[in-house]
Amino acid sequence: MAHPEGTHTYRFASCMNTLPPSFLDELFRVSAVPDIISFAGGLPDASLFDVEGIKKAMESVFDDYGSIALQYTTTDGYRPLREIISRRYYSRLGLHVNPDEIQILNGSQQALDLTAKILTNPNDKILIERPGYLGAIEAFSFYRPSFSSINPDTEGPDPAELKNYIQSDNPVFFYGIPNSQNPSGLTWSDKRRKEVAEILSESDCLLYEDDAFGELFFDGKAREPVMKYLPDQGLMSGSFSKIIAPGLRIGWIRAPPQVLCAFNRAKQAADLHSNLFSQMVMTQYLEKNDIEQRTRMIAAKYGERCRLMIDLIEDLLSDSIHHTIPSGGMFLMLTLPGSMHSMNVFEHGIKEGVAVMPGIPFYIDDGGNSTIRLNFSASSETQIQIGMERLARVFHRL
Ligand SMILES: Cc1ncc(COP(=O)(O)O)c(C=O)c1O
Repeated sequence: MAHPEGTHTYRFASCMNTLPPSFLDELFRVSAVPDIISFAGGLPDASLFDVEGIKKAMESVFDDYGSIALQYTTTDGYRPLREIISRRYYSRLGLHVNPDEIQILNGSQQALDLTAKILTNPNDKILIERPGYLGAIEAFSFYRPSFSSINPDTEGPDPAELKNYIQSDNPVFFYGIPNSQNPSGLTWSDKRRKEVAEILSESDCLLYEDDAFGELFFDGKAREPVMKYLPDQGLMSGSFSKIIAPGLRIGWIRAPPQVLCAFNRAKQAADLHSNLFSQMVMTQYLEKNDIEQRTRMIAAKYGERCRLMIDLIEDLLSDSIHHTIPSGGMFLMLTLPGSMHSMNVFEHGIKEGVAVMPGIPFYIDDGGNSTIRLNFSASSETQIQIGMERLARVFHRL
């Protein structure tokens, strides 16, 4: 017998009950309020997207390839695009990565989902940084792992803690963001990269190196990837989202052959392949434009905004509020004095017309009560000035 409308009881998978609460709905709601200056989100600056260049690339895909661009394709991704990514690994980082070691994905976010899908069983240990990227915690959580998190010092993840966790927890993989981490903005030192690789190489724990921000160093210089020291144990994801356009949804993973094979099977089951048209447009765009120069321009712009935000933090906020000093990326992090709660700052900020991201969803414990993430990529200099003045008023009141 049919249920009366609106009374059906839905049977969800049990993982739905163990997911962390979602902050994003609240954030999107808040960001839509007119006149709010938002440092809470994580968007690249849309005014830096090369709309004309991408339009031309799109037209030439239709002119040159017609209906081929609208057909199904193979799961691994458009070969010419993988060749460009492979060449850029060599030119940027001196890494020899064969195009066959690369799987194109629907944004690097998909790599997070597929990694946990192919590598973990429920209750397996995943090691993350403390704080860690919210999108990774959310993606991994669907597979019901058990998380541990490692504190950083000024150079990156604490080596003694890493050793201990590897010995005591036997994690399947360690997920880290060595370049301009989201949310902290911190970058691992060269020395720490080697130490982390050395520690991992004595175990069978894989490294997942998320390189979403590696092309956004303000000084335009690349840092050495940890994967260089761990080719057989390293997965490394990359993305065109931050340097070209996130809406095209093109990211990738580089992984050792056996892992890549598992990725390929999981990707095929999930969505057959990434959008071919989008991959071809991206390829045309990369072939016809000086992407390295464009990337340097974007990174330099974000660097100016970051420096402005830091100057204003130091001028307007109390010395008891500490901040990280990013050398790239899109975020920095504030640590509040013990008496202040990040949710309080968030709520008062909204009343004052400025949105910040409480640290809470970046922690698997209560560390986020005293931290706040600020985004500097999506606001103009004027907005940063006004927004930080508003934030200063919030801090003076609390
Ligand atoms: C650290 C990190 N990894 C991965 C992603 C996913 O990006 P995309 O799927 O657009 O490549 C993001 C997005 O902000 C991110 O901050």
